[in-house]
Amino acid sequence: MSVEVGKLLAHPNENGHFLEWIELYSGDTLLARVNLEPRWTVPNVKFVVALDHGHALVAKERCNLHGVWESQLWELFPTPVRISLREYN
Ligand SMILES: [Fe+2]
Repeated sequence: MSVEVGKLLAHPNENGHFLEWIELYSGDTLLARVNLEPRWTVPNVKFVVALDHGHALVAKERCNLHGVWESQLWELFPTPVRISLREYN
């Protein structure tokens, strides 16, 4: 599944304002985490997971200025799923 940050409006990606990481959870269980560096990485990641239950999928990201944001998806689909995170400043 893909996790995109700032789908409608690109999030800043510079030394003073950037995304530090993106995490994917099944319920409260951390499945995967990607650390990001300013300027060199794009906050659009793809996770491949094998799940056999229907817990909520939760994507979280942390901005160095605006903290942690999350988005939930309550159903599992047999095809790739895209979760978008947006910050509202
Ligand atoms: Fe931000």
